[in-house]
Amino acid sequence: MSHTVLVTGGAGYIGSHVAVELIEAGYEVVVADNMSNCDMTCFEGVKKVTGRSDIPFYKIDCCDAESVARIFKEYRIDALIHFAAFKAVGESVAEPLKYFRNNLDSFMTVLGAAAGNGGCNVLFSSSATVYGEADSLPVTENSPRKPATSPYGATKQMCEDILEHTVKAGIGIKGTALRYFNPVGAHPSALLGELPRGVPNNLIPYVTQTAIGKRECLSIFGDDYPTPDGTCLRDYIDVTDLAKAHVAAVGRMIGGKMKRDYEIFNIGTGTPVSVLEIVRTFEQANGVKLNYRMAPRRPGDVTAIWADPSLANRELGWKAERRLSDTLESAWAWERHLAGKDD
Ligand SMILES: NC(=O)c1ccc[n+]([C@@H]2O[C@H](COP(=O)([O-])OP(=O)(O)OC[C@H]3O[C@@H](n4cnc5c(N)ncnc54)[C@H](O)[C@@H]3O)[C@@H](O)[C@H]2O)c1
Repeated sequence: MSHTVLVTGGAGYIGSHVAVELIEAGYEVVVADNMSNCDMTCFEGVKKVTGRSDIPFYKIDCCDAESVARIFKEYRIDALIHFAAFKAVGESVAEPLKYFRNNLDSFMTVLGAAAGNGGCNVLFSSSATVYGEADSLPVTENSPRKPATSPYGATKQMCEDILEHTVKAGIGIKGTALRYFNPVGAHPSALLGELPRGVPNNLIPYVTQTAIGKRECLSIFGDDYPTPDGTCLRDYIDVTDLAKAHVAAVGRMIGGKMKRDYEIFNIGTGTPVSVLEIVRTFEQANGVKLNYRMAPRRPGDVTAIWADPSLANRELGWKAERRLSDTLESAWAWERHLAGKDD
């Protein structure tokens, strides 16, 4: 019998890619999303890619305990992957309470429902932001967490702690936190991808929107960092590779292979890439010219961060596989799909 995974925030960018990979790996998936940061585009893409028009979808707010409890009553949920959160760092600085309320309450509500049903395997989407400006690179899971520089980052640290303490309480919850580095790209089908509302906060949607002419010019924030070309270094992880890490982690939890009841894994490539390298690789891979300019540093940006992913490689049997150029081709294909310019 196949196992059922509840994916909260599953109509969003990463959740929709994870839904595809879970279904392709033989899991049943139930999606819950309040549509606060998405429309049905990606969920429709999931149905098309998997050929499954019957994926259960619940338009609910995960802060609403009754609605969440109803899902746990209707299905035997073997694992829960929690993506439902707000994620714009800048907005979180301006509206901290909105972030603490949504990100903490939604997580505690789904955890409560899971515990109320005799327990569950819970996977939480954490972030490399927990490491802040790291003392040494690459960061391992044992690198210290630094005081959060934004309410968004604080919610990631707090949710990790909430999960760890809930696991320790011995109420049937096992937990995994995956610390994502920089998720990028789109599904190779170009039927799902990142769908930012308004001005993109992340680099790649800004790049693709500039290339297609929606934005005039890409600003590169800071060219005087102590890095080889002066621009910031990040670890860009393809969203399909990232999605496969979730499948591996869910399989480990359901298969009873965890070494501890609460585990943390870095999910990255292990390779630092500069902003300028992204621009050049994008131009080369897609044969387009990008209009960009150098701008002053942006407050809050760390100079460099990249993962030591060896724990995930070893324990999850997972490794990032897609080449950066393929990832950037997929991002461009997705932008063209959105503009109705598919090849
Ligand atoms: N994209 C990144 O760069 C990145 C990096 C590290 C961690 N993460 C984390 O991964 C998760 C998914 O990120 P994403 O990029 O797919 O974002 P996203 O905004 O595309 O997806 C999140 C989804 O959750 C939904 N949602 C938000 N609050 C909800 C609530 N209370 N109830 C129900 N649904 C709700 C939104 O409508 C959205 O569809 C988030 O928790 C995010 O913080 C993202």
